[in-house]
Amino acid sequence: MSSKHDLPSWIQADNPGPWGIFLKQVDRVAPYLGHLSKWVETLKRPKRALIVDIPVELDNGTIAHFEGYRVQHNLSLGPGKGGVRYHQDVCLSEVMALAGWMSIKNAAVGLPYGGAKGGIRIDVSKYSQKEIEHVTRRYTSEIGMIIGPQKDIPAPDVNTNAQIMAWMMDTYSQNTGSTATGVVTGKPIVLGGSLGRVEATGRGVFVVASEAAKDKNLSIPGAKVAVQGFGNVGSIAAKLFYEAGAKVLAIADHTGVVYHQNGLNIHALLDYVKEHKGVKGFPESEPIDVDQFWRLDLDILVPAALEQQITRDNAPHIRAKIIVEGANGPTTPEADDILKEKGVYLVPDVIANAGGVTVSYFEWVQDFSSFFWTEQEINERLEHIMKNAYRSISEVAAEHQVSLRTATYIVACKRILGARDLRGLYPS
Ligand SMILES: NC(=O)c1ccc[n+]([C@@H]2O[C@H](COP(=O)([O-])OP(=O)(O)OC[C@H]3O[C@@H](n4cnc5c(N)ncnc54)[C@H](O)[C@@H]3O)[C@@H](O)[C@H]2O)c1
Repeated sequence: MSSKHDLPSWIQADNPGPWGIFLKQVDRVAPYLGHLSKWVETLKRPKRALIVDIPVELDNGTIAHFEGYRVQHNLSLGPGKGGVRYHQDVCLSEVMALAGWMSIKNAAVGLPYGGAKGGIRIDVSKYSQKEIEHVTRRYTSEIGMIIGPQKDIPAPDVNTNAQIMAWMMDTYSQNTGSTATGVVTGKPIVLGGSLGRVEATGRGVFVVASEAAKDKNLSIPGAKVAVQGFGNVGSIAAKLFYEAGAKVLAIADHTGVVYHQNGLNIHALLDYVKEHKGVKGFPESEPIDVDQFWRLDLDILVPAALEQQITRDNAPHIRAKIIVEGANGPTTPEADDILKEKGVYLVPDVIANAGGVTVSYFEWVQDFSSFFWTEQEINERLEHIMKNAYRSISEVAAEHQVSLRTATYIVACKRILGARDLRGLYPS
């Protein structure tokens, strides 16, 4: 088991944060790794963690400093890949855990990538577009020495988007002297972005949820669904459920929770949120509180906001048959155990939200060849990869009688550590 001695000196032993969750998840997989278990410690130490200071001049002429991170958790299978998060609570432990989850996710779906993640401690609501641009460009310059199309390829995450990727691509290209579209994914289409990327994570969530529903003899038309988070991931997943005939009973975001017993009109809610910047006050709904949200009688629950939302406090009250994790790390290990005991079928983040990075991979491949696929080709390839990954992981879960999360870790860790074993140590 992990002890404080497994922790780097710069992570608090009494409060390791999300990185502590990742370590526990790795511990759970160790007994299934056979001869590769000798390498398991590799996963408990990020290969590289860079902390940078980002000084920028604000619109009012004062100088502000922001803390930025880029963590490369493991690069055994290929260059690092993972998003960049802008949030006031971002910290090193969180970015390390998110990087670790990217290693697992990329390997679970069979992408030729290691895992990485970045972040900046910033409350984006307090700054202008120009200030965000300056922060983004300086951050990109500061991490420029460890990113690149063959080294580590950032992408959007919470509060970052295609415009931010465009600034990152431009800054990196200016600094290296040639246009390098492949340095980031999730770019605008005109700058080498891929069709289907914006919707990819939500679409992947819907695809695996549909497969899980089949396994549990549930039909999507008429299924009772609730989604926490109505951003990139949650809104697209909710829209696809709605369009497939599911009843999306409730949507929660940072402004509140809206509910309708016959199902919300998600198209109308999307229009409303565009204008009002949150779900609160949506006319064709009634407000409920967060506690009621977690107690709803549901077929499918999709947490698609932030991590550590399903905890030992609310897990005992959850009445969903299936949980599909759109967010990264929304369920704590204690909650995982409670849900397992209650017989909730949980499709973990490391497979459920892999659609985004899968289409990011397509974008990267298209950028190298400067040859672009149609949206239909993208969606078909995405569906094929997601379905296959889900099927092979459910077979491993059945074979070892373990949860889908542990099964995903078994498949992924065997790939990562198998590559490590073949590459060996340098110097040996
Ligand atoms: N965007 C991607 O391609 C992608 C890929 C894989 C995983 N993810 C993960 O999915 C999650 C959501 O990412 P996103 O890109 O949709 O972010 P986003 O910024 O577009 O949306 C986040 C949503 O969460 C809501 N939210 C924030 N705090 C909340 C709270 N306390 N309670 C309820 N709702 C809250 C916000 O209101 C917003 O609707 C994150 O965990 C992210 O790491 C995103």
